[in-house]
Amino acid sequence: MSEVDEASERTPLTGGSPRAAAHGTRGTTGSVVLAGGVMLSVLLAAKYLSSPSVMGAEARPTDPTIHAAIGPLPPLSEARTAPLRLERGAGPILVTGGAGFVGFHLSQRLASEGHQVVVLDDFNPYYSSQLKRDRATQLQGKYGSRIEIIDGDLCDGAALRSLFEKHRFSHAVNLAAQAGVRYSLQQPMAYVRANVKCFTELLEAVRLHPSTRLVYASSSSVYGSNKLSPFSERSRVDTPNSLYAATKKSNEAFALVYHQLYNISCAGLRFFTVYGPWGRPDMAYFSFAHRMVHGLPIQVYGHGKPRRDFTYIDDIVTGIVGAMALRTRRYEIFNLGNNEPVGLLDFIKTLEKELGVVAKLNYTDMAPGDVLSTHADVERARRLLGYKPTTSLNEGLRKFVAWFKSPLFKDEYATDGLWKSGKAWGRYT
Ligand SMILES: NC(=O)c1ccc[n+]([C@@H]2O[C@H](COP(=O)([O-])OP(=O)(O)OC[C@H]3O[C@@H](n4cnc5c(N)ncnc54)[C@H](O)[C@@H]3O)[C@@H](O)[C@H]2O)c1
Repeated sequence: MSEVDEASERTPLTGGSPRAAAHGTRGTTGSVVLAGGVMLSVLLAAKYLSSPSVMGAEARPTDPTIHAAIGPLPPLSEARTAPLRLERGAGPILVTGGAGFVGFHLSQRLASEGHQVVVLDDFNPYYSSQLKRDRATQLQGKYGSRIEIIDGDLCDGAALRSLFEKHRFSHAVNLAAQAGVRYSLQQPMAYVRANVKCFTELLEAVRLHPSTRLVYASSSSVYGSNKLSPFSERSRVDTPNSLYAATKKSNEAFALVYHQLYNISCAGLRFFTVYGPWGRPDMAYFSFAHRMVHGLPIQVYGHGKPRRDFTYIDDIVTGIVGAMALRTRRYEIFNLGNNEPVGLLDFIKTLEKELGVVAKLNYTDMAPGDVLSTHADVERARRLLGYKPTTSLNEGLRKFVAWFKSPLFKDEYATDGLWKSGKAWGRYT
């Protein structure tokens, strides 16, 4: 299975905030203890433990895995019961990778809610450029002047800064990336360029426009070979299994640096295996569907043992909008998953049912870079963003198949793209 998302154990993802440590804030209990001496630490610890804001089910102040930069969650009484929404006046909004799968759906949601959206995408041929162009055409056809599409490279720092000068974005959502675990074994530099260099250009642009709230895609792949399940944002993420995962982890570290040095507000979102209409052809559900309807065998990696927390695109988009709507100027990380892992063979059965075909299965070993299981703990997103995935796998795959069988679908979406050959393209060589 590709574009899995994975990870690890014990220490925080990143160190504690120096600012927070200096001021002895609650998220940095350890620093306070060291700085204040035994007596003070006892008093502070007692105060901390008795604080209503750390007594919720998830807040365990003695837990060494607590991510110091995130801090304690609000108590249950303050938890949201409905998804957080973006205020009407927000915008314009920059969506990088807006012709990609997630970016397309997000842009659609934002424009349908009346926001002005600027899409930046380089339409590269990692997978079918035609699919990306057709998504862009859909956006413009439906929302006209509410969506501006720019064919450009996120790594072009000067152009990016002019774009920020011109639009004064209220939000920038970074979905542009070189995605995919397998391809990262073949073309590592494509990942370093798109995910590290280009992301840093974006951070620089936001540094110059610190009122822009940054939301960026991380990935469940940062959990690597983490054995603690479900995966929590509090867990260490020190064992990435692929270069793709390592670049996503670096995004979180880079964002923390910019938050600490320049006070930019940012939220990193760890998506768990997103699927749906207009999806990514390099992902298992899409290539399985294509092969199944053409009577071709599909590779069942790990002999069918892998489990994935498949998350429907509309639920992911609601989570992204929630993270955009947060008003705090904190550094945040959220898991956006479905909290319901499904075994690969069950997944194939559901797809067979929706497509009305029987799959030919080729059982093979795990692919390098892949992980056995992903499972998102979404409690943090639930409490702070009102995130609650509502789409079952049956329902989500039905919607995917409806698009896949519709006249909007073109066969070349499934057959074109460098992800198949593993070859490099243009500036990524
Ligand atoms: N889809 C998933 O299951 C999943 C899971 C975890 C994380 N993610 C992350 O979410 C984000 C969106 O994923 P997606 O599935 O929509 O991927 P996608 O490949 O469909 O979208 C990424 C888009 O970014 C564009 N892009 C790449 N490099 C660029 C550059 N230098 N300048 C401008 N545009 C560029 C691509 O052309 C593409 O349209 C990515 O960061 C991905 O790593 C996705």
